[in-house]
Amino acid sequence: MSDPILSVRDLSIAYRTGRKESVTAVSGIDLDLYEGQSLALVGESGCGKTTLGLGLLRLLPNLGEITSGSLTYRLKDGSRADLLQMKKEPLRRFRWNEAAMVFQGAMNAFNPVIRIFDHFADTLRDHADGKKWTKAAVEARAGELLETVRLDPDRVLQSYPHELSGGMKQRALIALAIALDPQVLVLDEPTTALDLLTQRSIVQQLHELRKKFGFTMVFITHDLGLAAELADRVATMYAGRIIETGSARDIFYDPKHPYTAGLINAVMPVKGDRPALESIPGYPPSLKAMPDGCAFNPRCAFATDACKQDRVPLSLLTERPSGMDHSVACLHHDQVRLARSATDQLASFVEGESANV
Ligand SMILES: Nc1ncnc2c1ncn2[C@@H]1O[C@H](COP(=O)(O)OP(=O)(O)OP(=O)(O)O)[C@@H](O)[C@H]1O
Ligand code: SF4
Ligand SMILES: [Mg+2]
Repeated sequence: MSDPILSVRDLSIAYRTGRKESVTAVSGIDLDLYEGQSLALVGESGCGKTTLGLGLLRLLPNLGEITSGSLTYRLKDGSRADLLQMKKEPLRRFRWNEAAMVFQGAMNAFNPVIRIFDHFADTLRDHADGKKWTKAAVEARAGELLETVRLDPDRVLQSYPHELSGGMKQRALIALAIALDPQVLVLDEPTTALDLLTQRSIVQQLHELRKKFGFTMVFITHDLGLAAELADRVATMYAGRIIETGSARDIFYDPKHPYTAGLINAVMPVKGDRPALESIPGYPPSLKAMPDGCAFNPRCAFATDACKQDRVPLSLLTERPSGMDHSVACLHHDQVRLARSATDQLASFVEGESANV
């Protein structure tokens, strides 16, 4: 098995909330990501998906801080880099060249007074390592990428952001993020706030881009349909931790954490009977008042006293190649079954798109 392109060990991230106070938003993340894989990070609002995504590129806001752990990348030249030790200048070169991010709510990320051409020109010139980006070279590179996401370069490059629709902006941003051919692309909720048809077309184009450019992808979503369709691997997050991870097939056919099963059971099937949706009772815990033991215990139908004692670590259920191991953080995972056939719809995507699982 080749080296992972990204290795995360025991990563924790906190936000300062006062002069001497902070809250831990992400804890104890272990993750190996292999070249060409796509990993979906799923979970309810506030579980730490964006924080982890930003942390993976050291793009946390000022109040956010990686408090422990390690983050190692295999760079394009084959060397390994400890991202947490990287100084300002190498870090600047690392971003966009080696790994890039499409931010949550990114449609507002464009500078409104700058044409799309200038966004490409600035990005390529600011982050390129030594290469001279003439106007013609920028137009050629931007044109190639915009055509791949089915946008007309002649029109789009001359446009200001407000002259593009939401879907066009999102596609232009994805094209911009891969302008320097990064090995890893992190996409935070890439289709949220788009209508269904536009969502479908973005998903299609992400498939095509991955086929053409072969980048490794981490995408963050609370849309399980999207995760089933785009992901080779899935990691479910709850209260800042990964509580289940595995191939898309393992997670959608045979989830072993009650929370993952609850998320899947809450998905409305498009075919067949439409039974009442089973929502997960209660709310995620406050970061300032985490329950003892398993953080899910106040909401869990399987909880016993043992679940309220110590934190429950991820443990291996099924070993698989290339980091696809199925692991779960639950003391009673053997009791977990999907309550109904909500997976039919998800499984059909898994069948179609994750042949290498
Ligand atoms: N700048 C900040 N200062 C303090 N707390 C923060 C900050 N940003 C996020 N948090 C807290 O960290 C936790 C994780 O937030 P995060 O944005 O990573 O969640 P998320 O899973 O991406 O949610 P969503 O699905 O709503 O985007 C939340 O409890 C949030 O309130
Ligand atoms: S460890 Fe216990 S409380 Fe936590 S998910 Fe498993 S059964 Fe539920
Ligand atoms: Mg988020």
